[in-house]
Amino acid sequence: MNCCQCEGIEEVFNAEAVARELAAYRRTGPNRTTRWLAEALQAEGVRGLTLLDVGGGVGALQHLLLAAGVEQALDVDASQAYLEAAKEEARRRGLEGRVRFLYGDFVKMAGLIPPADVVTLDRVVCCYDDVEGLVSQSAARAGRLYGLVYPRDTWWTRLGIRLLNAFKRMRGSQYRGYVHPARQVDRLVRDHGLRLKQHRQGLIWQAAVYARG
Ligand SMILES: C[S@@+](CC[C@H](N)C(=O)[O-])C[C@H]1O[C@@H](n2cnc3c(N)ncnc32)[C@H](O)[C@@H]1O
Repeated sequence: MNCCQCEGIEEVFNAEAVARELAAYRRTGPNRTTRWLAEALQAEGVRGLTLLDVGGGVGALQHLLLAAGVEQALDVDASQAYLEAAKEEARRRGLEGRVRFLYGDFVKMAGLIPPADVVTLDRVVCCYDDVEGLVSQSAARAGRLYGLVYPRDTWWTRLGIRLLNAFKRMRGSQYRGYVHPARQVDRLVRDHGLRLKQHRQGLIWQAAVYARG
């Protein structure tokens, strides 16, 4: 991620926006695509496994997977505000001992991050320019399962992102969204010996779960 994108992430996922999201999460629970991903991973079996959740946001996916039997989780997030919110929510749920938090760009720190049985990226690929670095480095750390939610590669999602980026540019924001080609994402994951086990898509998002071997 170039430093402009780091600044963009901090700016979009700022304390105010994150506080609103945390309040909404407490009111209404995880969103639909996060539930899809958790259900698909749970169907493959997650009991007793470790989790690396890249860009965990307020921690919704971690909470679902910890409730499903994941033993320990590591959340790596490039937004300080999200990381603080996720810590606070983990404390509130009595999960402090089971989740660790690391601040920074996963791709830059990947060499220092240990592998985990399950690696997840829930709506993270769309916030990051270097899809190859992000998907490749994260897939390389997945011991058993790899799950991600990312935008479908369609004319309407590309148009939506173009409009969002034009709006951000007009407002002087450094943040940019991305619709990376689904074929490229899939190839990068498969190149690490992972096989597609489950795939589901809605109008905008798709969720995919891969397993090793
Ligand atoms: C749209 S939010 C999604 C948050 C959460 N996973 C969810 O689905 O609600 C994108 C998240 O990805 C994080 N992110 C993007 N690129 C990242 C990177 N290279 N390293 C760590 N976190 C990253 C952002 O900081 C943010 O937390």
